[in-house]
Amino acid sequence: MSNYHIKHLEEYYQVYRKSVREPENFWEEIAEEHFMWRKKWDNVLSWDFSKPEVTWFEGAQLNITENCIDRHLATRGNKTAILFEPNNPNEAALHISYNQLYERVNKFANVLKAQGITKGDRVCIYLPMIPELAVSVLACARIGAIHSVVFAGFSSTALATRINDSDCKMVITSDGSYRGAKTINLKGIVDDALKDCPCVKTVLVAKRIESDINMEAGRDQWLQPLLDEALPVCAPEIMNAEDPLFILYTSGSTGKPKGMVHSTAGYMVYAAYTFKNVFQYRENDVYWCTADIGWITGHSYIVYGPLANGATTVMFEGVPSYPDFGRFWEIVEKHKVNQFYTAPTAIRALAKQGTELVEKYNLSSLKTLGSVGEPINEEAWHWYNDNIGKKKSPIVDTWWQTETGGIMITPIPFVTPTKPTYATLPFIGIQPALMDENGNEIKGNQVDGRLCIKFPWPSMARTIWGNHQRYKDTYFSAFENKYFTGDGALRDEVGYYRITGRVDDVIIVSGHNLGTAPIEDAVNEHPAVAESAIVGYPHDVKGNALYGYVILKDTGESRDQNNLRNEINQIITEHIGPIAKLDKIQFTSGLPKTRSGKIMRRILRKIAHKDTSNLGDTSTLLNPEVVQDIIDNAL
Ligand code: WT7
Repeated sequence: MSNYHIKHLEEYYQVYRKSVREPENFWEEIAEEHFMWRKKWDNVLSWDFSKPEVTWFEGAQLNITENCIDRHLATRGNKTAILFEPNNPNEAALHISYNQLYERVNKFANVLKAQGITKGDRVCIYLPMIPELAVSVLACARIGAIHSVVFAGFSSTALATRINDSDCKMVITSDGSYRGAKTINLKGIVDDALKDCPCVKTVLVAKRIESDINMEAGRDQWLQPLLDEALPVCAPEIMNAEDPLFILYTSGSTGKPKGMVHSTAGYMVYAAYTFKNVFQYRENDVYWCTADIGWITGHSYIVYGPLANGATTVMFEGVPSYPDFGRFWEIVEKHKVNQFYTAPTAIRALAKQGTELVEKYNLSSLKTLGSVGEPINEEAWHWYNDNIGKKKSPIVDTWWQTETGGIMITPIPFVTPTKPTYATLPFIGIQPALMDENGNEIKGNQVDGRLCIKFPWPSMARTIWGNHQRYKDTYFSAFENKYFTGDGALRDEVGYYRITGRVDDVIIVSGHNLGTAPIEDAVNEHPAVAESAIVGYPHDVKGNALYGYVILKDTGESRDQNNLRNEINQIITEHIGPIAKLDKIQFTSGLPKTRSGKIMRRILRKIAHKDTSNLGDTSTLLNPEVVQDIIDNAL
């Protein structure tokens, strides 16, 4: 038997050592014993980070939906696969069994086929957290179409950019969505986006809210009547191990979003194996990850990882604050949730509300708590540990990225002793390295540096859609023969890792990855703006908030600054989405620049942090005088 399920610390070290010494044997055993293959591989791994090129399980054939659904039917047909909890607590929850999921996915797959979608086509999914979202993802995988899920909080411009970048033929959306007390006209956003997307031929529309929407003849179709007519069986498309399963966009520090391409076999094996161990999932447990399927967390740990293990996975449509801030805990009690996985920003927002709404509910079902998306600060860690876990449920602080496909550094609950703010140890098969600025690996403990990974793992992204050069430049050029994560980290005296944050121009706001350049581009669209620079500063709920320094054009007119601020944020909302709005906007006459014209963000960051004691030598700047002026007018 392979070590699929790790149960104590000694076993972790033993399995970890094996995964590093004989990675191919190790992963071959895991793959062989725990998944369903139509054909086994010829070669477990081949790799060359200089190209970069990585293949896992080359030659193997499979369909991930057979692994996530079909193979469970004999033993778990009536077990709940997806437990849907609606936005409105008075609307009944929906238990979708594996049998029912099979039927829904197969019907949907047949609808996609009937609409002309075939293997390799890209399908954009822009849906709220309703069952159709998970079902459409799986339906694409069933027929070998490449899904590109776009988080339904993104604006029409952001949606159009993503649709066009990967040349999607179809968009799957809904008439609207519920979000707390609000309803959102999703179809209207899609209509706006599609004005600029000639590649889209068909729009399938799920019905969620009662509203009148525009249906464009020849392009838009209601989903339900098509499903009603579809046959309930669709033979799975047999995929090669390295065929792309999906594209998921993530922001870069510069330029347009990067469409990370994930493989079929390697992604499946790693997502499933990490899910099993990081959450210590046992048969009949109810597992809940509060993320949206629009992010990688939802792909790997709401859909693919849990279903590949035959788990029951909760899908929650709503928000933590509706109808009140007790909603998460109400759901935990109602569905007797055993594993709960959320983001530090949610924990901080809930902690602010005190514990009254926590104490109202019985949380005794909880066994494991997870955290993801950004560093969890000590205070939030303790609040989570004391009030939610009652000091009995270990917190797994899981570090990973859209690019890594699965969890990379994490404790294993009941196995790895936890330490507040530490993601602790590399997961099985993961070989981290800390690098100094000269490109040398820093060995030993009690050190810090730039976090790299020096050996391939099965679920790493294989490329950026349509731009392999950018993939190489972004991740494999900073340090020779290593994947560079963009994060800084320290390693303590026992070898535990603590992620200290991004070392590039990406800012994590409420767990969302935002590049400064695209936001600056949006700000500069305002006719009154000449130039802008955006930095992050610490925020007690969001982790980081955005601080914009804006130079206005000299038009001689005076303008109301608050109106300008609102207009700038409106443009950001239209171009990216409300998550990228600036918390503070300081109008300034200049920005500190080097003699070669580069904005000195380090100085702007310090001012935004209200830490101006040590700005370093500013005398070599092109315009040292603006620094004092910015400090004097800082917000
Ligand atoms: C960036 C990746 C992984 C799914 C959600 C975010 C930060 C993520 C942690 C953590 C400290 C974390 C990193 C990383 N991050 N998890 N546990 N501790 N930082 O995916 O949007 O691709 O963002 O999120 O900075 O590079 P993403």
